[in-house]
Amino acid sequence: QDHLISAAHLSRDDIEAVLDHAAAVDADPDLVRGRHDGRVLALCFFEPSTRTKMSFESAMKRLGGETVDMGAVDSSSVKKGESLADTVRVIEGYADAIVLRHPSEGSAKLASEFVDVPLVNAGDGAGQHPSQTLLDLYTIRENAGLDDLTIGIMGDLKYGRTVHSLAHALTNFDARQHFISPESLRLPRSVRYDLHEAGAQVREHTDIEDVLSELDVLYVTRIQRERFPEEREYREVAGEYRIDAETLEAAPDDLTVMHPLPRVDEIAPDVDETTHAKYFEQAHNGVPVRMALLDILLGGDR
Ligand code: CP
Repeated sequence: QDHLISAAHLSRDDIEAVLDHAAAVDADPDLVRGRHDGRVLALCFFEPSTRTKMSFESAMKRLGGETVDMGAVDSSSVKKGESLADTVRVIEGYADAIVLRHPSEGSAKLASEFVDVPLVNAGDGAGQHPSQTLLDLYTIRENAGLDDLTIGIMGDLKYGRTVHSLAHALTNFDARQHFISPESLRLPRSVRYDLHEAGAQVREHTDIEDVLSELDVLYVTRIQRERFPEEREYREVAGEYRIDAETLEAAPDDLTVMHPLPRVDEIAPDVDETTHAKYFEQAHNGVPVRMALLDILLGGDR
C-alpha cells in the first residue's frame, strides 16, 4: 500500500508526477471532477489545523468524494485512552484513505503499519509534513523554478517539520540551501546527516543580511511555542528573525517570500502588499496539489 510518510522517501519522479498532475488539475478542474464519487477520506487531527485539514477536505470534495472527521481529541475515544494503533485500525473501516496529524514524531509511520488504506502524514510532531512540501515545491516551481535555485530557510529549523520535509525534498533538485536561525534552533543532527548523505549544497547563517541578496526564495517559519520543552527557551528566541518591507529593500526584485502559515509576527503585514509575498498563493495551492496527491493515492486513472 502507498502511504506518504516522509519527503525523504520521495524521488524527483514522484514529486514531478504530483506537481505535473496538480498543474493539470489547476488548469482544468473538470479533469478529475467526480472521479472519486462515493469514496471517503478520514481526517484524524490530534493537533490543530486550518490549512491542511480544510484543503484536504476541499480537495476530496472537489474529486467527488466525502470526508469523515474524527473531530477534536476531547470529543473522540482517544480521550478514554484508546491507542493510536486501535484508532486507525477502526477508522480504516470507515474510509478509503486517512490523513493523520499527531504530536509525536514517528506516529504516522507507526500508524501506517496498522492499516491497508493509504495514509498521509499531515504532520508528526517536529518530524515531517510531506504534503505541505509538495505544495511548497509547486509554489517554488511556479514562481522561481526548481533548478538552479538558491533558497533561504529561516526561523525554527529545529522543530519545524515543514523545514525538515522541504530540505529533504530539495535534495532531488539543483538547489543551494541556506539555513538561517539562532544557534539554538539549528537543524537536527539527523536531518543534517541526511542532507550530507544526499550531497546537498548547504550553508548555515545567523543573519539574514549575509545571504538575502543571493536568494531566489526566502521560506520563513514560525518559532513554535508549543514545541519548546521550557517557556524560558522560547522567550529567548521569540521575536527574532522577523522580516518587514524595509528588510526586503536589500532583496532581489524577484525574490519570492513563502511561509507555511500560520504566522505570528515573523512577516510584518507591510510585506503582504509587496510583489514578494506568495504565502497566501502557497496556502491556496494546497487544494490542487492535494487533489493530485489523493487522486494518485486512490488509484485515479494515472
Ligand atoms: N501549514 C500548515 O500545516 O497549516 P495548518 O497547521 O493550519 O494545517
